[in-house]
Amino acid sequence: TYIVTDNCIMCKYTDCVEVCPVDCFYEGENTLVIHPDECIDCGVCEPECPADAIRPDTEPDMEPWVEMNRKYAEQWPVITRKKEPMPGYESMDGVTGKLEKYFS
Ligand code: SF4
Ligand code: F3S
Repeated sequence: TYIVTDNCIMCKYTDCVEVCPVDCFYEGENTLVIHPDECIDCGVCEPECPADAIRPDTEPDMEPWVEMNRKYAEQWPVITRKKEPMPGYESMDGVTGKLEKYFS
C-alpha cells in the first residue's frame, strides 16, 4: 500500500486525489491520508505529490504511518477533487516533525 506521510501536513497540495482510481484519499483539517486497505498499490499518486509526501509502505519505519493513515481514513470524509493548498504551504514544505507539532 501507499500512505501519506509527514510532509503533507499543513501543505495539502491535493494533486494526489484526482488520479486515484479507487478514491481512497480522506481529508482532515491539516493533512490527507490514504486508507491502506482500500489502496490497490497502483502507485500513480506517488509522483503527483509536489511535497513527496506519498510513500510506499515497503520503505523502512513506515508502520506507524500505516496505522495513522488507517485510523483517520476511517473517520474523515473522502476527497476526490483537487482544491487550493493550505495557506502558507510553501513555507511548510520540507519542515520536519510536523506530526508532533501540528497534528495531535
Ligand atoms: Fe490510490 Fe493508487 Fe495511490 Fe493507492 S497507490 S492511493 S490506489 S492512486
Ligand atoms: Fe498531501 Fe501531497 Fe496529496 S501534499 S494532499 S499527499 S499531493
